[in-house]
Amino acid sequence: MTGTPRNGVELPDLTLGTWDIRTPAQAETAVGAAWASGYRGIDSAACYENEDVIRRAIDSCGIPRDGLTVTSKVWNDAHDEAAARAAFDASERRLGRIDIYLIHWPGPVPRFLKVWRALEKLYEDGRAAGIGVSNFMVPQLEILLEHARIRPMLNQVECHLWFVDRPLLDFCRREGIAVQAFSPLGAGSGVLDDPVLREWADRLGVSPAQTALAYLRQLGIYPLPKSSNPDRIAENAGFRNVRIPDDGMAALAGRNRLVRTNKDPFGWFGQGYE
Ligand SMILES: NC(=O)c1ccc[n+]([C@@H]2O[C@H](COP(=O)([O-])OP(=O)(O)OC[C@H]3O[C@@H](n4cnc5c(N)ncnc54)[C@H](OP(=O)(O)O)[C@@H]3O)[C@@H](O)[C@H]2O)c1
Repeated sequence: MTGTPRNGVELPDLTLGTWDIRTPAQAETAVGAAWASGYRGIDSAACYENEDVIRRAIDSCGIPRDGLTVTSKVWNDAHDEAAARAAFDASERRLGRIDIYLIHWPGPVPRFLKVWRALEKLYEDGRAAGIGVSNFMVPQLEILLEHARIRPMLNQVECHLWFVDRPLLDFCRREGIAVQAFSPLGAGSGVLDDPVLREWADRLGVSPAQTALAYLRQLGIYPLPKSSNPDRIAENAGFRNVRIPDDGMAALAGRNRLVRTNKDPFGWFGQGYE
């Protein structure tokens, strides 16, 4: 892979997650609040069925499109080269412009290599400024890197206080692949009630959500919190002002249980998965 070109755009330090944001009113409230709080990334996907409402929200909030990095993802029903290109065309029609395009889930090996070829072409044609993957584990990344002409700029994976895959983070760091954390607040699984997280939030005088996001940032990960509530959207952006000391980072690292809230990408590795 030495000499294989890197691709991509500068990742915003804070991107709004939008899974479950469906209605125009929800999208306008969330996107407007995120922009006002300094989020410069919006994460969507074909399977969220909200690309059109996200685009309308960006337009109706008067957000300068060049100031925003919008991500979308190719879903599992489009896992060959032609289908992935058609999926991009459809998502681009709904979103107007896609800055970063990801393979949402790897699925079986030969198929993700075909999808990656489609993404490489989209990048070379200037249709997406950045291409990358999501839910890829180390063995899947190794196979991808062995065959890719263009390296993925990022891997979007589940990552929060209770699930930090250190070997994956180390691998991505070595390979120059940015890691973006989905479900960084634990997706309602109870992470924000963790007693050690709460203890450190109290000590620092900030909220558990801000502490959870600051923890990820200090691990070198880009967090992707979702909220449709303007107060929580603003609260979450406040993580930028939080600095966790070394003993706090060590205490929080001790909470890693390696328990996912989402699917295990290995569960779909080499199997039927639609
Ligand atoms: N690539 C993938 O396969 C994948 C998978 C899952 C998610 N994602 C992306 O990652 C984004 C984030 O992940 P996620 O939505 O699973 O989980 P998350 O961001 O960890 O958690 C979202 C939940 O936390 C609540 N919340 C937000 N801020 C809060 C705060 N300050 N205090 C208390 N509760 C708070 C939200 O409720 P309210 O909305 O009511 O505030 C929502 O129920 C998604 O929206 C999506 O864009 C990608």
